Amino acid sequence: MSARAPTSKLRLGVLASGRGTNLQAIIDAIEAGTLDALIAVVISNKKEAQALERARRHKLTGVFLDSKPFAHEANSREAYDRAILDVLQKHDVELIALAGYMRIVTPVLIGAYPNRIMNIHPSLLPAFPGLEVQEKAVDWGVKIAGCTVHFVTEGVDEGPIIIQAAVPVLQGDTADTLSARILTQEHRIYPRAIQLYAEGRLRVEGRRVLVAGASESPAGPLISPSL
Ligand code: GRF
Repeated sequence: MSARAPTSKLRLGVLASGRGTNLQAIIDAIEAGTLDALIAVVISNKKEAQALERARRHKLTGVFLDSKPFAHEANSREAYDRAILDVLQKHDVELIALAGYMRIVTPVLIGAYPNRIMNIHPSLLPAFPGLEVQEKAVDWGVKIAGCTVHFVTEGVDEGPIIIQAAVPVLQGDTADTLSARILTQEHRIYPRAIQLYAEGRLRVEGRRVLVAGASESPAGPLISPSL
């Protein structure tokens, strides 16, 4: 995939099912001027999603798209994604950001938006794909956990990795305390990943995402427990 030509403001479509703190981080970054994009539409499969409330509060277009009417169709997930696609295309969405979206996206969406769907996942992929991964990290006894923004491909949580943040796992951590530590970093790296895309700095080569002008001198290794 070649990089985006950043000629016009990036039009984002955000898909969310729940509380929407990552959506909020994206909104805040746009309002603070650190993310040069606009949210064309927020779509939720849950009517009561707090994400929709956040969209309303910021005068963004919010759409609840119920999956129930599609449940009787033979390929119900694909049929639902065709309806999502319709909404996204009506709003001229260029990049889709999944933000706590609790459905698996089908080839209908992925084919229409190849390397143009991002997801945020609360683990250092490829460790701990799937659900309840902060609890799995604590149970496994890892010393370092984190979060990942990646492009979405057909394999769940398997797409090319754009950016990751690592946090220590502390001895007294529960799934909740670890989740909170990871979430703080999610809110930093998701808007950043989108900004890199908006600036046309991301190029996908096979499994690797090349970031033009990336700083190659990070702060240093995270050692946990520290030395
Ligand atoms: C986040 O932990 C995200 O990594 C995962 O689902 C959670 C969504 O949280 N995909 P929120 O709805 O953005 O607050």
